Amino acid sequence: MIEFDRLSKSYGDLAAVRDVSLAVRGGEVYALLGANGAGKTTALRCLATLLSPTSGTARIDGFDAVAQPLEVRRRLGFLAASMGLYQRLSAREVLRYFAALNGIMGDDAERRVEEMVGAFDLGAFADRLCGKLSTGQRQRVSIARAVVHDPPALVLDEPTLGLDVLSSEAIFRFISDARSRGRAVIFSTHQMSEVELLADRVGIIAGGRLVAEGTADEIVAGAGEQNLARAFLRIVREAA
Ligand SMILES: Nc1ncnc2c1ncn2[C@@H]1O[C@H](COP(=O)(O)OP(=O)(O)OP(=O)(O)O)[C@@H](O)[C@H]1O
Ligand SMILES: [Mg+2]
Repeated sequence: MIEFDRLSKSYGDLAAVRDVSLAVRGGEVYALLGANGAGKTTALRCLATLLSPTSGTARIDGFDAVAQPLEVRRRLGFLAASMGLYQRLSAREVLRYFAALNGIMGDDAERRVEEMVGAFDLGAFADRLCGKLSTGQRQRVSIARAVVHDPPALVLDEPTLGLDVLSSEAIFRFISDARSRGRAVIFSTHQMSEVELLADRVGIIAGGRLVAEGTADEIVAGAGEQNLARAFLRIVREAA
């Protein structure tokens, strides 16, 4: 279970996230939509223990990101929108390394690494140095690395950024599968089609506030529009 409770985060005078409360239960996929600068990454980074909230809390399975960061990190797979990989390690080496950091060793580690290579279709380049991979290949390794320990909560900031249709499809399949295994998933995106395909619920953030929440159908109906893209535009304009 992922929970934000009245989460606020300011950078100096700038209130990037304001009083956001939401919850994502195990077996649920939640999409966070919002214009550039709306506050999505800031909120997700608070959950990932990388930023301290100005007020309010972010929790995973009841553990507070500020008070119990180690418990939170252990339960979390976090994909940052721009995450460095180890340039001088191959994809398999990166995956083994992150498995080990999470206490997965030996045969268990090898099994899990090969599962990730399969799930994200890394086979063709898994032994090449990460520094020599294309943007999309690197993104797939980054996601695999974030989830190699099979955490109960997946927090994915723009997981399909820079991916082609086939690679995006592999990510969708992975997320669906995670849902069916009871994982709680929250992801941010600018692609309405992904939301319609994948998300059980949607939250729209504008100016740091959660201004709409529901199933995609509920949001479309609530805005009196024909589709999610139009509903999103209307909701964001009205919030401004
Ligand atoms: N480290 C920082 N210092 C100061 N201001 C920041 C910092 N990081 C983000 N901001 C500001 O906080 C606001 C929210 O940014 P955030 O990155 O959370 O938006 P976002 O919804 O993820 O946008 P995008 O869709 O472009 O990724 C923006 O106005 C941004 O300029
Ligand atoms: Mg962002």
